[in-house]
Amino acid sequence: MAEVIAIGSDHAAFPVKEKLKDILASKGYKVKDFGVTSPDSCDYPDIARPLAQAVAEGKYERGILLCGTGLGMSYAANRYENVRAALCWSKEVAKMAREHNNSNVLVLSGRHATIDPLEDIMLTWLVTEFPNEERHARRIRKIEGEV
Ligand code: RB5
Repeated sequence: MAEVIAIGSDHAAFPVKEKLKDILASKGYKVKDFGVTSPDSCDYPDIARPLAQAVAEGKYERGILLCGTGLGMSYAANRYENVRAALCWSKEVAKMAREHNNSNVLVLSGRHATIDPLEDIMLTWLVTEFPNEERHARRIRKIEGEV
């Protein structure tokens, strides 16, 4: 069964989100859109928090958040237990975010230049597996205070 990817953005990245949704669909992913549904100004935590909570609760394995810089979405999403939101600006960083950090939320900037196109960063992140190597798994457990 196709993985359902949760996705959300604020107004600053609304057109980019819509484009990425089409790309996800063309690659066979299903999408749950947490909004926004228009380019009207909004507050990024109103999107980040429900999406991050749904990931934290296991309703979605992975999510994608976008805002102007990607920073606000990262701050909001990373407050949730077991949510590891990674702001990625290149394919290499996206690959490392999965392989080393097992990130479950990809954060992208909708307004600022990235080294690689957003589409390539997203697709790299989606297909890269967490190899579950002990040293990385241990470090992730320590984020949650489990020693
Ligand atoms: C919106 O103007 C902007 O502040 C927001 O998209 C984001 O960059 C916040 O971190």
